[in-house]
Amino acid sequence: MSIRIAPSILAADFGRLESEILEVASADLIHVDVMDNHFVPNLTIGLPVVRRLAEVSPVPLDIHLMIADADRWAPAYAEVGVASCTFHFEAAANPRQVARDIRSTGSRAAVAIKPGTPAEAVFDLLTEVDMVLVMTVEPGFGGQKFMSEALPKLGELRRAAAEAGTDLWLQVDGGITPETAPEAVAAGADTLVAGSSVFGHLDRAAAIARLRVAAG
Ligand code: DX5
Ligand code: ZN
Repeated sequence: MSIRIAPSILAADFGRLESEILEVASADLIHVDVMDNHFVPNLTIGLPVVRRLAEVSPVPLDIHLMIADADRWAPAYAEVGVASCTFHFEAAANPRQVARDIRSTGSRAAVAIKPGTPAEAVFDLLTEVDMVLVMTVEPGFGGQKFMSEALPKLGELRRAAAEAGTDLWLQVDGGITPETAPEAVAAGADTLVAGSSVFGHLDRAAAIARLRVAAG
């Protein structure tokens, strides 16, 4: 299994996003954190910036919506030409419909769960999504400590997906470094988001390469 690396631009220089993205062109996806200061206590970027990033990025975008009322807003983000659009289970009134709306734009659909949300919460959505994001920190900020206690959910999701006869990507986000990546992969993750451990280094390509080696 080859592991996908998705640098999170939350840790990049927001004054020069296009050139920051070009520096991580060896990544599989670019992870874009959208925060609304309601679902999480932080605020980042919105639709006009995401739309422009989708135009200039040579790497497919992986949008992580940490916003309230995903039912209303997620489809607008999905339809600007992104590879994948993730909404939070906790922020959706009708998660099944949100996933369907995202897929209908041609984007992959993904559902995220916070550390306190059990894997079972999304079992009946597994045929409606292409990826599940298991948060390994509380969403909202970069540079937090990795929560290994979230990892057993990956195995539970892998088993439930097999039972449902569907194939999923399993993503982890938060505190992923060359030290924690092996643990996440061993637990079943195949898509690794990394903010500080990529953009915190001057040589971003080397940082991505270190993550790939560590992830095996
Ligand atoms: C946090 C975001 C993450 C964040 C991860 O809520 O969803 O994508 O950028 O940052 P690191 O890799 O520094 O933990
Ligand atoms: Zn994220």
